[in-house]
Amino acid sequence: MLNEATLILDGQEYRFSIREGTEGERAIDIQDLRARTGYVTLDPGYGNTGSCQSAITFIDGENGILRYRGIPIEQFEQAPNFVEVAWLLIFGHLPSDAEYQSFSADLTACANLDESMKHHFEGFPRSAPPMAILSAMINALSCFHPEFFDLEDQAHFRIAAAGLISKVRTIAAYAYRHSIGQPYIYPDPALRYVPNFLHMLFSQPYAEHFCEPVVRDAINLVLLLHADHEQNCSTSTVRMVGSSQANLFASCAAGVCALWGPLHGGANVAVLEMLDQIYQGQISPEDYVHMAKDKDSKVRLMGFGHRVYKNFDPRARMLANVAERLLSTLGVKDPLLDIARKLEEIALEDPYFVERKLYPNVDFYSGIIMRAVGIPTNMFTVLFSIGRLPGWIAHWWEQAQTRGSKIARPRQLYVGSGVTDHVPRDQRS
Ligand code: ACO
Repeated sequence: MLNEATLILDGQEYRFSIREGTEGERAIDIQDLRARTGYVTLDPGYGNTGSCQSAITFIDGENGILRYRGIPIEQFEQAPNFVEVAWLLIFGHLPSDAEYQSFSADLTACANLDESMKHHFEGFPRSAPPMAILSAMINALSCFHPEFFDLEDQAHFRIAAAGLISKVRTIAAYAYRHSIGQPYIYPDPALRYVPNFLHMLFSQPYAEHFCEPVVRDAINLVLLLHADHEQNCSTSTVRMVGSSQANLFASCAAGVCALWGPLHGGANVAVLEMLDQIYQGQISPEDYVHMAKDKDSKVRLMGFGHRVYKNFDPRARMLANVAERLLSTLGVKDPLLDIARKLEEIALEDPYFVERKLYPNVDFYSGIIMRAVGIPTNMFTVLFSIGRLPGWIAHWWEQAQTRGSKIARPRQLYVGSGVTDHVPRDQRS
């Protein structure tokens, strides 16, 4: 097997070493390409660019494989536990019982927000997008916790990580309560991570929300399936911001902004809107798929396709099972689920989707699950953010711990005008 790549430029030969990952992936190391040759590479969208070496998550998109710290994602389906997965991703191993209990205790201890943070929520209009509030409030945590700006060691980092994972859930719930004009519900130390979140979302001062075990498991699964996905847009954003040594909260707030877009985390909202549009407009799934194939229509089949998975997204398969189980246990009849199933059936048989390797992605079913649980559509991407947070934190820390980490600073190919003289305003035509 080659361990060097040869590049011939202007008749001169250059050799670059080849690095090999644990699973046999191979990368040409071009770190000194520009210094040696004067050339840069051009890779818009970074589809061929390895921006770092990472030991957190492995994806084989061609074969539909996703592993967290080496563990196949399917192995988390039986007893889904988001907190355990968060620890695994961040600290690199499954927690021992003592580690798990102590991390859970840290999450409980950190759940409250500084009381004066509540005033910030009041400043937002009721109609404010929850993702904007989430990002702003995570950034605001920096103001309340300057003790985490310089993380001295792993123990110090652990408290910062637990604080962020715990508080993000309180922020998300308060954002929702503000949007519907209802009082904030404080976290309940007797409840575990997911039931506590649903309690803050749905309880009333006079009526406690009860979280059914099937709902707890479904939301745990939704969160953990979103927990990391290597160098996706939001994680790369967190790493990029963190590369300037910006603090953990500022870096993760930027991750929320990146996740907001409809081509990334916002896709789960877009899926529900699409299903609703089909239902309300009484469009047949066949006609909708037809529109999605028409390049002039600007319609895409939301929840289909993925930059990395060119085979089934394993997370979509797991969520399809859970959606089925959840809806039948709760006795929910949802016409949108029927439309989703029909769209999937048609698209998987259609040469347009087959040839382009477009399969359902994680967003295709996560929205159906959240809707069945009563989570409003504008909170879907917020839940995705809560889920993705451990991944962001793990990557931020991995980068901070990497000796010789550099500030991220890509190059470009300038295609603007050549040297042009400045013209005073009164002489411009
Ligand atoms: N519906 C119809 N056609 C599609 C779709 C779709 N959902 N996705 C891709 N295509 C077509 C494109 O039009 C293009 O066709 P062409 O070759 O004839 O021009 C071809 O498939 C390749 O598409 P690209 O956009 O080049 O693929 P890319 O890998 O860049 O994009 C993406 C991936 C953004 C996810 C895309 O598939 C998409 O827009 N899907 C819908 C949005 C969505 O579900 N996003 C969630 C992604 S998962 C996540 O972030 C958690």
